[in-house]
Amino acid sequence: MSTITVTAPAKVNLHLEVLGLRADGFHELAMVMQSIDLADRLTFSNTADGRLSLSCDDPALSIGEDNLVLRAARLLRERSGFQELGAAITLEKCIPIGAGLAGGSSDGAATLVGLNALWGLGHSCADLERLAAELGSDMPFCVQGGSQLCFGRGELLEPLSDGSEPLAVLLVKDPRVSVSTPWAYGRCRQRHGGDYLVGEPAFEQRRRALRQAGWIRPIRAAQPPPLRNDLQSVVEPETPAVQTALQLLRSLPDSLSVAMSGSGPSCFALFPDLTSSRQGYERLRKDLESEGLRAWCCSLRSGGARIEA
Ligand code: C5P
Repeated sequence: MSTITVTAPAKVNLHLEVLGLRADGFHELAMVMQSIDLADRLTFSNTADGRLSLSCDDPALSIGEDNLVLRAARLLRERSGFQELGAAITLEKCIPIGAGLAGGSSDGAATLVGLNALWGLGHSCADLERLAAELGSDMPFCVQGGSQLCFGRGELLEPLSDGSEPLAVLLVKDPRVSVSTPWAYGRCRQRHGGDYLVGEPAFEQRRRALRQAGWIRPIRAAQPPPLRNDLQSVVEPETPAVQTALQLLRSLPDSLSVAMSGSGPSCFALFPDLTSSRQGYERLRKDLESEGLRAWCCSLRSGGARIEA
């Protein structure tokens, strides 16, 4: 029996711009997503009985049919045409749930990568990204990860070259709070729908502006990302945990910039290197503890779901 282990990293949004509304009801986005060194770990073993099973070390996570790991496994098996394929999957959860860090999407992407190898299906990365897009807007990014421009619903990817600098983040999240992504986008539409751009030429103009932004090539400390997140303006006023996290992170003198990630409630400060993010953590340690907030110091990471050697 063979076993494959896959690392599934989290992401942060260095840029999340809501452009407008699409005909399918989703939002048209212009984003820069960035993988970070905070990762779940999945193992995949062949089973002879054609069953797909999932176990997880975090009892807070549903391991039912709604879990993106099982949905990804079923989709991959269905498209392979080999209904007899089975796998026992275990998930070691390190990325906080409902945090705006794409933990569930990354687990789903890792499942496509892991089972593609375990079952010897031979799909290309582009094939896996197309399958991933059927399951979630952030999931295609998580297949290759690294640093990418993400357009459309989030599934149209344009990889960016890796910077040579060891940038890092200090990530902060209240473990008692999670934010629903549909709620955040719904609120955004309620508040800002009247100002949304309309039509492909207007969308393309914003995409072009982001592609040409000086800070993306490559991402570096000398010209740090301004860290725009349009969902922050709707989530922050209604989520005290986000207000507290942002306030603490903004008090750090050495950070390059501060923002919420995705639909929250995780927030992060960007630093020139891991050492300065650790120093930032030390400065905040007592306040984080007294507010009941968790924190992680993570390097930016150049890839997404990866099979471990
Ligand atoms: O694609 P995903 O399942 O991650 O999306 C979750 C929800 O977030 C969608 O049902 C939708 O309400 C909202 N969303 C959106 N526009 C996007 C991505 C997500 O409105 N581009």
